[in-house]
Amino acid sequence: MSTILDFLGNDHRACDDLFASAETAAAQKDWARARDLFEQFRTALAHHLAMEEELLFPAFENRTGMSAGPTQVMRMEHEQMRSLLQNMASAVEAANHGGYLGLSETLNMLMQQHNLKEENMLYPMSDQVLSGERDDLIRSMQTFS
Ligand SMILES: [Fe+2]
Ligand SMILES: [Fe+2]
Repeated sequence: MSTILDFLGNDHRACDDLFASAETAAAQKDWARARDLFEQFRTALAHHLAMEEELLFPAFENRTGMSAGPTQVMRMEHEQMRSLLQNMASAVEAANHGGYLGLSETLNMLMQQHNLKEENMLYPMSDQVLSGERDDLIRSMQTFS
């Protein structure tokens, strides 16, 4: 069984790939393709954020007693990402080239900083404090929908 860092880190990479493909299509003004890829990206990222909020963060908070710590910051950043996703959806729908690419750049900066914090701090800490329940948690995330 893998670690939380492996499992969720790989999911970051999968989201990043879809994000980059959608951005390329939008840059080329291939709007049909950009809409399709953006929808795939949005679905993948929404699933990732929900998996963390509903499974990982509560497990971490229960185990450490820290509900106002790192997970609270991560939840706030998730909300910022959701709001950018909403605006990107409008931009891609309207074939708004400059609008989409600007939002895309903002989301990318936020997302990369967020992912680094998780991969350098929260996930390794979770692997440590949740060691006893880690395999069950990963199984729950694998079947989460
Ligand atoms: Fe996150
Ligand atoms: Fe994440």
